[in-house]
Amino acid sequence: MSSNEAEFRRLCVAGDVPPSGFLRIELPGYDDGFLVYEQSGAYFVSDEMCTHALVSLSQGECEDGQIFCPLHGGAFDIRTGAPTAAPCRIKLKTYAVRVENGDVYAAIP
Ligand code: FES
Repeated sequence: MSSNEAEFRRLCVAGDVPPSGFLRIELPGYDDGFLVYEQSGAYFVSDEMCTHALVSLSQGECEDGQIFCPLHGGAFDIRTGAPTAAPCRIKLKTYAVRVENGDVYAAIP
């Protein structure tokens, strides 16, 4: 693997992610956590911190494929990280995901 390829890291058991919801995960060596989302049997992973200000999206609500920030009500598409509601303008970082043997992995550098 070249140095700029991200390693797939095991995050959680898929069944631990609430349906149409999310689970916050911490990984050793990272200051901030990650959010693992479930939607219609698919899984997505993003950073946990809102890009508008330093607030954890884990305190927010997941609805209609979006994660809503608890502070100013901005939102992001959980699949792409694209901002979907003001005041968020900067994309939320998302990661490639795969599910193997019932566990969720994400390509986190
Ligand atoms: S901190 Fe998230 S919308 Fe402002």
